[in-house]
Amino acid sequence: MLHSVVTRTWHVDPEQLLAETLRPAIAALQAGGVVAFPTETVYGLGADALNPQAVHRIFHAKGRPADNPLIVHVSSLEMATELLAEKAEIGVLEQLAAAFWPGPLTVVVSRNERLDDIVTAGLNTVGLRIPAHPVALQLIRMLERPIAAPSANRSGRPSPTQAAHVMADLGGRIEGIIDGGSATVGLESTVLDITEWPPVLLRPGGVTPEDLSGVLGTQVTIDGNVHAARADLVHQAQPVRSPGMKYVHYAPSTPLLLVERPTDTDSLTRIALEQQAMGKKVALLLTDETADLSLPFPTLRLGSRLQPDQIAAGLFAALRDVDRGGYDLVIVEGIEASGVGLAVMNRLRRAASALSGDK
Ligand code: TXA
Ligand code: MG
Repeated sequence: MLHSVVTRTWHVDPEQLLAETLRPAIAALQAGGVVAFPTETVYGLGADALNPQAVHRIFHAKGRPADNPLIVHVSSLEMATELLAEKAEIGVLEQLAAAFWPGPLTVVVSRNERLDDIVTAGLNTVGLRIPAHPVALQLIRMLERPIAAPSANRSGRPSPTQAAHVMADLGGRIEGIIDGGSATVGLESTVLDITEWPPVLLRPGGVTPEDLSGVLGTQVTIDGNVHAARADLVHQAQPVRSPGMKYVHYAPSTPLLLVERPTDTDSLTRIALEQQAMGKKVALLLTDETADLSLPFPTLRLGSRLQPDQIAAGLFAALRDVDRGGYDLVIVEGIEASGVGLAVMNRLRRAASALSGDK
């Protein structure tokens, strides 16, 4: 049983950040507590990465399976290399850091004994990143220790892009939430494993495979599971290298049916009508271009297909909104899986409980 704690909210202005305003959060972290904080991708649920009991509380608060490793957030390349085991990886890490840190890229490297097994779920690698958010950076600097942090949602739920999402999922289970406004990227970081060559993309995000190849001078390998149509199909496809991939994630409670492009509006309408004929209350989650056609169903919007960055930024809030309408089924329209669209489609495929082709 988790005894309930009072979850405080601390409002901060990321544009004019005063160290003072972060002191209560620092005190909570120093005491082994867990605190949610904003990053540019999504809100993270942080604990002192060098305190195994504190890290245990992250797993407990989220209901996270113990075999799913955490990302460790650092504020400098030096802090990152202190956790590294294989000095041969430093060159590539430096190259990536120069191009993308601080930013939405997590680099998986071999790790030494400074981190307890609980952080990495027993793996001999660790995912490291310097977040590009003034609050996150200041928090790590003031704590003077790395911060382990997964996304600050209950396990299986969409990642939080606002403090209110965190409160809805984790209120009463964590010491506090630093409210620094909405996350700008909106999807979790890209995860790249550099323990082999060419490096392997384990999770697509704001930093695209094209960006990575440009800097590394070689194509990155895209792990087969990145394209898996649904979470429950992941481990059948091949062995799982990134444990997070085998879990259903990002899912609203309402069943979500993903219609992949290319599809025409007639087929989309036909699928919706078929589902309605089965007695279901159906809604659509559409790009602006399709929503503007005013199909005869309640419609939620993803944003313009021409601006996948904006679709990414609003996706998780949209997935949370899906549950508000009391629908039996929401049919979501896919977008083209290239650039940041690859990350959007990866999350939608993982959130979907069924595909339009399924029986
Ligand atoms: O943007 C982000 O990455 C956010 C913010 C808070 O930084 N964090 C985040 O953490 O999304 P989380 O725990 O929700 O997702 C981490 C993913 C999981 O799929 C996990 O399995 C994978 O990264 N991962 C972590 N460490 C790994 C490792 N050593 N090897 C392979 N995969 C790893
Ligand atoms: Mg997560």
